[in-house]
Amino acid sequence: MSNRRTILITGGAGFIGSHVVRRFVTKYPTYRIVNLDALTYAGNLENLRDVEGELNHDFVRGDIRDAGEMVELFKEREISDVIHLAAESHVDRSISDPMAFVGTNVVGTANLLNAAREAWKNSFDGKRFYHISTDEVYGSLHHGGFFTEKTAYDPQSPYSASKAASDHFVRAYGNTYKLPFVISNCSNNYGSHQFPEKLIPLMINNIRSNKPLPIYGKGENVRDWLWVEDHASAIDAVFHHGKNGETYNIGGHNEWTNIDLVHLLCKVMDKKLGRAEGESAKLISYVTDRAGHDLRYAIDASKIERELGWKPSITFEQGLERTVDWYLANEPWLEHVTSGAYRSYYDAQYSKR
Ligand code: NAD
Ligand code: TYD
Repeated sequence: MSNRRTILITGGAGFIGSHVVRRFVTKYPTYRIVNLDALTYAGNLENLRDVEGELNHDFVRGDIRDAGEMVELFKEREISDVIHLAAESHVDRSISDPMAFVGTNVVGTANLLNAAREAWKNSFDGKRFYHISTDEVYGSLHHGGFFTEKTAYDPQSPYSASKAASDHFVRAYGNTYKLPFVISNCSNNYGSHQFPEKLIPLMINNIRSNKPLPIYGKGENVRDWLWVEDHASAIDAVFHHGKNGETYNIGGHNEWTNIDLVHLLCKVMDKKLGRAEGESAKLISYVTDRAGHDLRYAIDASKIERELGWKPSITFEQGLERTVDWYLANEPWLEHVTSGAYRSYYDAQYSKR
């Protein structure tokens, strides 16, 4: 792979995207990073303060739903590669507004594929379209087994259905037009800069402000958690060494029921906040379950470990502590993202439960 690449990273102002942009901008000074993001409620330029002035980082505010804008962008910037993370990413929001997920995740991805195909029509040599996806496309597991790259798709929420559709489009362009692509499907991420609508930052924020900790259903659902910087390092490995046309599952071998995870988080926060042990756990409150709530996700990550030599770098306990430290040290960030529209989202989401 040449050192002179112009990589379009979509969704680079979001949670995972900002970690990927930071990694690529600092580790690969010869690459030009074009960071495209619409700055929806989930995108925040504060996530990129430390790399905003770097010469090889160019931020563009734009919307992947706009087909013409994508064609222009590929032409103007001479894009050689894509790492596509822009998406509507929250299951609860997909339940209340599924069409937003069709627009960005399905149509937006197809627009990018068309723009790449058009811009690269003379030759696909040295080009790569890397699509970032989720383990949720595989559906819900019961108490045994793991998702492998061969597991049949069985999405259960509007979010996972829209991600599954986008994966299918990427593979279809690979098969039909020979567009060089690679896909990875990752388990639940956690870490710094995650918007507090997702479980871990929402609980950290509520513990810190002594608000109830809403556990959906009985808290028995299982997720497989991976530290976001380990996801970024896996994306680096797949981008540089993954084989065209292949899929790689990424996960932390780290399954937790929601209730056990929240108890662990309460324990860590009690220590950090100087509270008596057990104090924060008193905030736990069981609320109405999510509609169609997937029971369990668990990834078999042996292919990426074996073929690309990737594995997680830290334990969950270490990652959780770093995450809590980051949120406590960055209260202005948290205050900013939880003001305004977040309050109305929170009230609408939790008052009915
Ligand atoms: P996020 O919601 O934090 O960020 C998404 C970003 O995309 C935001 O910056 C937003 O402004 C931008 N965006 C949304 N709509 C856009 C549009 N129409 N045009 C341009 N930009 C737009 O999401 P995340 O958690 O960082 O997830 C990133 C990707 O990784 C998604 O594709 C998601 O499906 C996938 N993924 C996430 C997880 C997870 O646990 N968070 C796990 C596996 C895979
Ligand atoms: P979430 O972070 O939304 O990720 P996903 O649905 O993509 O796995 O939720 C993680 C788990 O936590 C999921 O089983 C739903 C549950 N959950 C709660 O119990 N309470 C909450 O307030 C939230 C946001 C999630």
